[in-house]
Amino acid sequence: MHLLWLLFYFGFAERVLQEQAVDSNMSAAANTSRPRCKPEELRSYRWLGPDDLRSFGHRSRQKQAGYNTEEFTGKPVIGILNTWNDLISCHAHFKQRVEDVKRGVWQAGGFPVEIPVMGMSETFMKPTSMYYRNLLALETEETLRTYPIDATVLMGGCDKTTPALLMGAISANVPSIYLPAGPMSRSSWRGEPLASGSDVWKFWAERGAGRMSCDSWCELEDHIAASPGHCMTMGTASTMTSIMETLGLCLPGSSAIPAVHSGHARMASATGRQAVELGWNNLRPSELITAKSIDNAITALMAIGGSTNAIIHLIAIARRAEIPLTLDRFDEISSRVPVIGNLRPAGKYVMADFYDAGGLPGLLARIKDLLNLDCPNVVGTTLGEAIDGAEVYDDDVIRPRNKPLCENGSLAVLRGNLAPEGCVIKPPAAEPHLLKHQGPAAVFKNYPDLKARIDDPSLQLTKDHIIVLQNAGPMGAPGIPEWGMLPIPKYLLEQGVRDIVRISDARMSGTSYGACVLHVSPESFVGGPLALVRDGDMISLDVENRKIELKVSDEELAERKKNWTQPEPRFSRGYGKLYFDETTQAHEGCDFRFLHSDGSRDPEPDIY
Ligand code: FES
Repeated sequence: MHLLWLLFYFGFAERVLQEQAVDSNMSAAANTSRPRCKPEELRSYRWLGPDDLRSFGHRSRQKQAGYNTEEFTGKPVIGILNTWNDLISCHAHFKQRVEDVKRGVWQAGGFPVEIPVMGMSETFMKPTSMYYRNLLALETEETLRTYPIDATVLMGGCDKTTPALLMGAISANVPSIYLPAGPMSRSSWRGEPLASGSDVWKFWAERGAGRMSCDSWCELEDHIAASPGHCMTMGTASTMTSIMETLGLCLPGSSAIPAVHSGHARMASATGRQAVELGWNNLRPSELITAKSIDNAITALMAIGGSTNAIIHLIAIARRAEIPLTLDRFDEISSRVPVIGNLRPAGKYVMADFYDAGGLPGLLARIKDLLNLDCPNVVGTTLGEAIDGAEVYDDDVIRPRNKPLCENGSLAVLRGNLAPEGCVIKPPAAEPHLLKHQGPAAVFKNYPDLKARIDDPSLQLTKDHIIVLQNAGPMGAPGIPEWGMLPIPKYLLEQGVRDIVRISDARMSGTSYGACVLHVSPESFVGGPLALVRDGDMISLDVENRKIELKVSDEELAERKKNWTQPEPRFSRGYGKLYFDETTQAHEGCDFRFLHSDGSRDPEPDIY
């Protein structure tokens, strides 16, 4: 009996130690060996410390809010940038999570201040949340610059919130840690597992084909998004949170924790504690975002089979950090990285399965020979240390290197006379026979035209046609919306056609799939060759050789260009005008020109 008790005790003790090891990254604040600044060297001290008129005002107003001087002066002030609002349901748990972050900040001796910033709802914002990515980036940058903040917790998850927060933090270069929202929980409908986003497209096609009733469609609404958290496929949200973890911007192992898992709340408080450490040690984004860490992010993007949207975001992120990233780098890395994340839409599983299988650390550990392991992270270790010993618990979710989902080529960059500056396709999400295809173009001049005519049987489209959408790019739409998974005509759906080559200057949702050629650059609105395509022109797609060609002579294209006129811009004032005047093309990241870094740093605000 005594022996049994001892065995039980030591088994239990070992288990506790294992759990502590798993959670060790969540309480890693003490791990950093960087020197800490003195209290009077904190950035916030300039506002709160001196014996002068302005500081009197600052201190007296914090007292107005109910705090004593010793609670907020001489200790790191942590700005928690919260992208919650009532229309961003992916962040519905952020009201509680911000309290969890604050708990961690208090525990570590910091002073938390919650600052609401623009919550960009992927589903509700029109014309597209991408149109506002740069606005949130600008708001983030200026919020961090104008307030007495020593370090920040960036709370994001729903698609564009993540790149926007990071772009702003890079430009402000204030010590930052990212809190990933975490994916939604698993859901199922009539016994079948569901994937948010991807299954919406799938069942909409079934409905278009007349195989799904209106009642079933409505019933699906109850199940497709069954908990707080971002989309649970490897769509744009999961891709960007995985990239943040790879870049070292969040706690190792945090990006795949499901939003409603208790571990997510524990991670949030640990993030708050780590933010205080960042306030003391002044580890800035410029030390984390480097050419080597960007290569790591691209490598992870390819290995997880991530979203095409990440290409645009990573170019914008890199350029904020003065790293000259081009589309060619994505193709180079794609050619040597196997897809080992078997995750929808390219694969089979959802993010909760990924988490259970070992999550991003498990996946990265399997490709560690392809990574720059010496890149630092927010907890003061390196990527190599963060994934050291990480295991995979399900070889079908995270495939071994000798059994990848595909050998390489998760994303491919194509060029040719139709896209001189490049365009992209996600080959694993397309029907393989369409990756080398030639067919006649069926051209739609904008999205309303597409919507009005796509199902018109008199067009007599076949499965060999190539659907072309013009004026859906950064300036033309505007905002380069996720229209790129162009609809297949109903009469073809009824014939059982489920994929067809589609070409546009739009993006597509990371949860979408199909032989969709995206981000054609330069876009048609500025007179790119896509604007010159006419019905019946032959187009040739050859993904293996990275080619996309419009089979029309140069002379004929020059003649068409002479007769081409630019459509009127959609907006003539306000943000629309700013966007129109300043956005760059897809291959340049769609950032605003005036937000690019010219190598200089904006000065700290004067306090008079
Ligand atoms: Fe928020 Fe998909 S709608 S991540």
